[in-house]
Amino acid sequence: MSLIFGISYSSHDTAVAVLKDGEVLCIYEEEKLRGVKSCYDVYMSPDNCFDRIKKEHNLELKDADYISFASFYKKSIVSENLDVFAGKTHEVSHHLSHTLGAYFTSGMDGKVLSVSHDGKGNRSRGKVVLCENGEYEVIHSQYIPTTASIAGLWAATTYYLGWRQLKDEGKVVGLAAHGKFSQRFYDHIKNCVYYDKDLNFKPANFESLFHYVCTNVYKPEGVFENKETRADFAYCLQLVTEECMKEYLTDLKNRYPSYNKLCLSGGLFANVKLNMFINDLGLFDEIYIHPAMSDSGLALGSAIKIANDIGDVTKPFRLKNAFLGEKHSKEDWDSILKENSQNVSYEPMTYNKVGELIDKGFVVGVFIGRTEYGPRALGNRSIVVKPTDKDTHRRLNEKLRRTEIMPFAPSVLAEYSDEIFDIKKSKHTAEFMTICFDTKKEWLDRIPAVVHDVDGTARPQIVYKDNNPNFHKIISEYKKISGIPLVLNTSLNAHGEPINNYPHQVIKHLIDDSIDYLVTENYIIYKNKK
Ligand SMILES: [Fe+2]
Repeated sequence: MSLIFGISYSSHDTAVAVLKDGEVLCIYEEEKLRGVKSCYDVYMSPDNCFDRIKKEHNLELKDADYISFASFYKKSIVSENLDVFAGKTHEVSHHLSHTLGAYFTSGMDGKVLSVSHDGKGNRSRGKVVLCENGEYEVIHSQYIPTTASIAGLWAATTYYLGWRQLKDEGKVVGLAAHGKFSQRFYDHIKNCVYYDKDLNFKPANFESLFHYVCTNVYKPEGVFENKETRADFAYCLQLVTEECMKEYLTDLKNRYPSYNKLCLSGGLFANVKLNMFINDLGLFDEIYIHPAMSDSGLALGSAIKIANDIGDVTKPFRLKNAFLGEKHSKEDWDSILKENSQNVSYEPMTYNKVGELIDKGFVVGVFIGRTEYGPRALGNRSIVVKPTDKDTHRRLNEKLRRTEIMPFAPSVLAEYSDEIFDIKKSKHTAEFMTICFDTKKEWLDRIPAVVHDVDGTARPQIVYKDNNPNFHKIISEYKKISGIPLVLNTSLNAHGEPINNYPHQVIKHLIDDSIDYLVTENYIIYKNKK
């Protein structure tokens, strides 16, 4: 039994995971510790992660029995820096880290296909791994330069629609729902990517894929002259992506018909509508998407690979929750409240009062326990609002100074999830808010703030009492008053920031009126009246 440090570095999403005797002890992500989206600096070193591991767990790299690292390039900067630990360090390929991270945290028994897709990593755009009862075999890799990257097309589209690539792809997914079919756009995109019947995606013209994309498809002048044509382009990109994945997964299933479960990882599967499409294809009995599907997932995945090699992790397990980051003490809060006493006041926290505030329509920040691992706020660093007002999307965007196009997501008590959403399968992955489902007709008008007004879908987080007790209690208290067993949940951060990790970041949101109340383990905090 061993101590393993898993490091994701020299890509975007630098992170460090620690496994102790096969258990996930903690995972820190550099962007949250720095308060800066990692897509702005792909070479963030993991210094702050190491600092927190020392501070919160009294462990250092020198204590590790094994150090795994997954990187973007073959020979990474971190491998050179870790030469001092020669003999302990092990490089795990990018897509093996993605696929094994997903498989071993899925809890899936029996035969499982684990598939990854992203822009690129270690000269590859994706892998297919056959898994069964803790053993695995890599059967395919999509090698650069002859293969096309669907995720790359999404990044390019995001950029040319005027948003930030590797960050705002979700806005393109949201925009797609408002578009319609355009033969011109469809043909352009098909020229950039098609499925080639050999488990590879190919570009019709791979030599100049990005040149082509940038000059012919995304020519800014005239092409996106109005909102409709932008939405039509996004619609066609989503359509081609779904068509490609359908052909690819159908081919894969035909080759391995006894594999009825599917794990997905890599940035492409941040696309919650694509995940819903795959779930609804009928090819697999269950799908699971890694909670940290982008490159911060590599930290855990590479560590799990080593843990499997040495016998610390022999079978897939279920991540109980994603609360694996930094925790702040009552003393931290006391100190920040004292510093800000001119601006804010507080009272003791009671769940009943939090339920009342939500029911009264206030925008409530929740900062409890450890920061979430991955891109979704799951109740520890969340903003919570009642889901019953149609106008909430506009009001929240205005209040939070955001430009969300996708509807806000609901967090629902597990006991009521099937009553409200049409969840035929893949319920486990919805604990991490990585997939959409249809909303049942009778609920559409009751919870308009969390349902897509175009197609009636929602992206629920299913909240279990055992795995997420604080959030379960907050939603339960709101239900006692309102009869509604769900709340709107969006991440606790300002526009352009990662999920907030520090008390001083969230106190600012109270002071600038982005939120009305802030809830911690001990306090309900509010802005002083002038
Ligand atoms: Fe990746």
